[in-house]
Amino acid sequence: MSETASISINGKSYELPVITGTENEQGIDISKLRDVSGAITIDPGYKNTGATKSAITFLDGEKGVLHYRGYPIEQLAEQSTFLEVAYLLIYGDLPSAQVLADFRKKISRHTLIHEDMKKFFDGFPSKSHPMGQLSCLVGALSAFYPESLNPNMTEEEEELTIIKLLAKMPTIVSWIYKKSLGHPVIYPRNELNFVHNFLNMTFGQITEDVVIDKVIVDAMHKLLILHADHEQNCSTSTVRIVGSSNANLYASISAGISALWGPLHGGANQAVIEMLENIRNDGGDSAKWLAKAKDKNDPFRLMGFGHRVYKNFDPRAKIIKKACDDVLDKLGINDPVLDIAKQLEEAALKDQYFVDRKLYPNVDFYSGIIYRALGFPTDMFTVLFALGRLPGWIAQWKEMRANKEPIGRPRQIYTGSTKRDYVPLDQR
Ligand code: CMC
Repeated sequence: MSETASISINGKSYELPVITGTENEQGIDISKLRDVSGAITIDPGYKNTGATKSAITFLDGEKGVLHYRGYPIEQLAEQSTFLEVAYLLIYGDLPSAQVLADFRKKISRHTLIHEDMKKFFDGFPSKSHPMGQLSCLVGALSAFYPESLNPNMTEEEEELTIIKLLAKMPTIVSWIYKKSLGHPVIYPRNELNFVHNFLNMTFGQITEDVVIDKVIVDAMHKLLILHADHEQNCSTSTVRIVGSSNANLYASISAGISALWGPLHGGANQAVIEMLENIRNDGGDSAKWLAKAKDKNDPFRLMGFGHRVYKNFDPRAKIIKKACDDVLDKLGINDPVLDIAKQLEEAALKDQYFVDRKLYPNVDFYSGIIYRALGFPTDMFTVLFALGRLPGWIAQWKEMRANKEPIGRPRQIYTGSTKRDYVPLDQR
């Protein structure tokens, strides 16, 4: 028997269907509530609102569980590669060796970006933030591939639009970095795998052959896998809502990149390192900074801590913390901010304020320390998050289209002035 929920408004009762997901999570379907009762639901920040049904990612914030298409994140981070995970997210199943090889080959045919796009880089001030550049350059792909503008494109055309974006994103990201240094760009090398090619374009030199350490390649795979999707978060919801107006893939992802940039979302990885540096320069007193984070009159928050859905450990943070120790150890790096991060974490996990609010380290708390050890500057961290999140955004955009979801358009409760008559300027 299917479940229903009843709601009573102004003395009248309404029965609403209850939807149950494959992991038994439940949602009350209120889509017809206004039609029958005149009332809407209100939920600022969508804290309790399911915007869609999705078969891509499952997470249980209370238990600290994260699955992509049913596969536990721990297994994927340990055993898979980023491109395989991208395929899994976008197409729904793990590929066979042949399918993966074909996917890789297709991507390698599109890694170049139009030479005219280089002119954009010349237009950006040298110190402009890489996330602003990335959002602009990904949006600009729609100008170079106008066929992507057709909302009624065939499956093959949609596929090509997706492949182009996956293929060009590493080139764009590494060229942003090269331009920030004032160095010549390195062109893609199609014999290298996706991640290795990205690292080669980023850390390679036109003047000599650079061998990218396997430790760096492996760490990058793991970090990108851990960021690859996270169901209906701020940037993913942005991608889906922009895409729901039939905006093209590049415009939708460009909007997602902008949403990711904020320090409460993906921008936290940059903010964490800046915070840890500040604490170090201030003498390393973690108690003082914890007190600031708890003080409601102080805008400071402990960056890399807390999460909208994880009320238990963020499983990604557990994996990253361990990877952080491994990578620094293997590369022989001793980063003093790692000790500060560990002290802060230990103190926060024992502190009643953090315990009561179930605030734990999130994916961004330790990731920046690894990125830094790999050689990335701080302002590139969020761009790396975007590179990792790309397959997830694409999968969610594709699912939204396949489900023929209606345009995203929330309602509101109006709290402004009631009707009043216009007063001419000379009478005010
Ligand atoms: N430091 C201090 N207090 C905090 C923190 C923090 N990092 N996070 C939440 N709180 C407090 C908050 O002040 C509130 O306290 P009270 O109930 O007394 O008013 C309570 O905890 C609940 O917080 P909230 O802001 O209502 O929770 P939210 O779900 O709206 O926000 C969050 C989630 C991630 C934006 C927030 O925890 C935060 O600002 N964290 C720091 C930024 C950060 O690390 N973001 C990365 C998130 S993970 C990467 C990703 O985006 O996917």
